[in-house]
Formats: sequence, C-alpha cells, structure tokens
Amino acid sequence: MTDIYVAPEVIALQGEYAKRVKEIITQRYAQPKVFLRTFGCQQNEADTERLAGIATSCGYTVTDTEEDADLIIVNTCAIREHAEKRALSGTGQFKKIKKEKPHTVIAVCGCMAQQEYRKDQIKNSYPYVDLIFGTDKNHLLAEMLYKVLTSGKRQYYVSGLHHDELGVIAENTPVLRVSNYKAWVSIMYGCNNFCSYCVVPYVRGRERSRNSAEILKEVKSLIDAGYKDITLLGQNVNSYKGDMDFPELLDAAASFEGDYRIRFMTSHPKDASDRLIEVMKKHPETIARHFHLPAQAGNDRILKAMNRKYTREKYLSTVKKIREAMPDIAITTDIICGFPTETAEEFEDTLSLIKEVGYDMIYTFIYSPRPGTVAAKMEGHIPHDEQVRRFRLLSAVQDEISAEKSKKALGKTIKVLSDGNCEGRSSQNKIVTMDKDIPAGQFVNVEITETKAYGLKGKVIN
Ligand code: SAH
Ligand code: SF4
Ligand code: F3S
Repeated sequence: MTDIYVAPEVIALQGEYAKRVKEIITQRYAQPKVFLRTFGCQQNEADTERLAGIATSCGYTVTDTEEDADLIIVNTCAIREHAEKRALSGTGQFKKIKKEKPHTVIAVCGCMAQQEYRKDQIKNSYPYVDLIFGTDKNHLLAEMLYKVLTSGKRQYYVSGLHHDELGVIAENTPVLRVSNYKAWVSIMYGCNNFCSYCVVPYVRGRERSRNSAEILKEVKSLIDAGYKDITLLGQNVNSYKGDMDFPELLDAAASFEGDYRIRFMTSHPKDASDRLIEVMKKHPETIARHFHLPAQAGNDRILKAMNRKYTREKYLSTVKKIREAMPDIAITTDIICGFPTETAEEFEDTLSLIKEVGYDMIYTFIYSPRPGTVAAKMEGHIPHDEQVRRFRLLSAVQDEISAEKSKKALGKTIKVLSDGNCEGRSSQNKIVTMDKDIPAGQFVNVEITETKAYGLKGKVIN
C-alpha cells in the first residue's frame, strides 16, 4: 500500500519549488495570474482545484479572463472523441494569447495529454504549448513550472501508465476550491474494470484508494468550514479499499454532526451492495437521496461485450432493493447507444430498461471508439445515423419519464440547497427554481408548485 503514496519529502520539496517560482514570477510580472480551463468529469474538476491550489502557492492569483493570464492550464478529457476535439480546439484558442503575450506559460494536462500519441500531437502541432503533463504528475506542478521558467525550454512530464503501473496518491497538496459550500473529495483514483469501450483505465492508471483517516479528516474539516454538499469521488467508489470498505467509509462520513449532504459517484452496478443500501437508508438527512447507477445497456449480450459483469436481471434487482429501502430516491444512469454490433432489437432492450426502471434522468452517449480499447478493435461498428436515431429515441422517451417522475414532487415541501440566483438543488439533485433569492450555500424549505421534466419550481417557506 505505502509505496503508492508520494513521499512526504517530495511534497515538501514542492513547497520549496513554489517559493522559487514565486520569486521569479513576482520579479517578472506585476501581478502574476493563472487561468484554468477544465474539460471532462468531476474528477478533473477536483484535480483542477488542486492545480489552482498549487499555482496559488506559487504566487499566482486565479483569473477568469484568459487575456490577463501569465499561466494557462488546460485540463483535458479523453472519454469520447468529441471531448478530445473540444480540448484540442480549447488549446488552439491560446495561440493568439501566446502571440500577443509571449511570456505566457501554456500547460496542457489531464486524460487526453496522458496518451502518448496525443502528447506527441500536442508537442508537434501546438508549438506554443510550454508544458505537457500526465494525470499522475499534478502534484509536481511547482517543480514543472520552475523548470519551464528557468530553462526556457518546453517540458514534458508524461510517463506510461501501463496495466501493471499503479499511479500515485499525493496527500497534503494545496487546494483552492471553486465553491465555499460544495466540495469534491476524491477517495480513490484510477480504475481496474476495463469496460471494453472505456479509456479511463489507460489514462488514470490502476485503482488505488486513499487512507480512510485522511478522507474523513478532509470531510470533517469541510463540514466545520461550512460546506453543505460534499461529493465523494472515484471511478468506482464501491470498490474503495482502504482500511475499511465503502459502506463503512460512507457511514462514517455521514455520521458527523452538522447540516450537510454527502453524495458519491460513481457506483458500478456490479459492486452496489446491500450494505451500501443499508447505510444510505440509515442516513436520510446526511446522505443525498440520489443514486447514480450507470447501466450502459439493457441487453445481456451487449453488457457482456462491454465487460460490465452484471446482467439486466441483476441490475434490476439492485434497483428494486434501492427503491424498497428508499422510496423517495432519485435514480439516474448513463447509457451508451450504438455500441459495436448492437442490433436494433438489442437496442430495444435498452429502451425497455429505461421504461422499466423509470429513471429521474439519463445521460445518453453515442458510442465513440477509443484507440487502444478492446471495443475499438471490434467488427460491426454502427453507422453514425443509426447511432443518432437511437440517441434521439432514448432522449424522447426519457423526457416523458422524467416529466412523470417530477410530477410526484408537486405540493410537497422539500429541503433545497440554494445556489443563488433563485436556484438550488434538492437532495435528489433536481434543480429547483424559487420565488426568492436565497444566499448560495443556505438550506431552505420549498413548497413545489410547478414541475417540469428536469426541474421543479416552488415557493420558499419560512
Ligand atoms: N466510472 C464511471 C464512468 C466514467 S465515464 C462508471 O463506470 O460509471 C462516464 C460515462 O461515459 C460512462 O458511464 C459511459 O456511459 C460514457 N462513456 C465511456 N466511454 C465511452 C465511449 N467510448 N463512448 C461513449 N460513451 C462512453
Ligand atoms: Fe470506464 Fe468502466 Fe472504469 Fe467506469 S468502471 S471508468 S466505464 S472502465
Ligand atoms: Fe474524461 Fe478523464 Fe474524467 S477521460 S471523464 S476527465 S477521468
């Protein structure tokens, strides 16, 4: 276990590099500023907050105006081709800034940059990028910046994250959170599941769990600091393996004194256990009534080809248990349509699954081949038009289901965490529009007077 942790001396050394970077940049620039752009999932958003924390320790202040920046960090995603295209064009946008302000340091990191061929592509086609680093190098940002600033040469910190390589866990790195009432807490990194379509195991390395004491300390300090909505993050939180398992960890995180909600994502259906459901049931106030349970497909042959390791029947029995334990729970899912070889009839099984479960919301994705994955090498890729047809059908059917689901909230009084601007979120994670502007980060009771497929409307009750 211990060897996956970055040694405390390495982290301490980063503090030294941060001081040197600060000396350099405060001499060179009047008010050093960093601009950060994030693509992809919550894991990346959490990583960006760490990068912002390190940049701040180096003397930069965060700006949301890219033209003002002396350092630009682009944290990329590789989950689908579209995500990579966006990250690449996002990087391309900074060419102009580099031309006008040549001293601006441009860094590209994250899941796309972790892939060797993408690293080479950025290196060759984006000559104004000064620094490229992989997902397991984030904690070295101060050192990497020091190298860029003192060498005047481009720097590359991308090492292979091969199947047998774990990747690292870096504790005690600075963090600068975007919100003062919502927080991400990574509990584990990487993934071992190798779903046949998915790039994550290749760009995030093997599954590794943080020590539970560190996690609980972080959660406690967030609650003490007034955070109200805390999400425990991992690609597959149910396979958390610290000195306790995930249900135990969740139980402990939800047992602190205070007015807050714990969320978690993502749960792999194969590992969603009875004990997890029991723990959720035990904490109706401090664990949000929301379960994101990605099904991906409703047909057993396709699930097998996806290497998901559960059947439709098993999935449905888990959903049944969740609903029996917590009738007010919202269940959401991810669906991939047009996986290689998926026939029109097999797709019908996915359609019938979403009807049978009656999700509150689904995230539908058109299958996108990812180089290096098993599915990308399969025969029988589905034409794009047909993928789009399936995507539209799913979305249309779900819109109706979601509208029906929302109606159940009509007339009820629910607890909402305000996001400001007359909006907030319910425990079920539904967007609630309110008749009053309540300060962000405050809980209020709202009586629901109107419902839409993906939102509720109501009046604040004093
Ligand atoms: N670890 C999470 C998923 C992370 S990726 C889990 O297992 O649930 C988020 C979603 O992106 C996945 O659930 C899947 O629906 C989708 N996805 C992943 N790879 C994809 C691909 N190659 N093409 C289309 N969608 C994909
Ligand atoms: Fe990808 Fe599957 Fe791991 Fe999720 S569980 S990150 S879909 S390989
Ligand atoms: Fe994208 Fe990496 Fe997350 S590929 S979805 S940013 S883990």
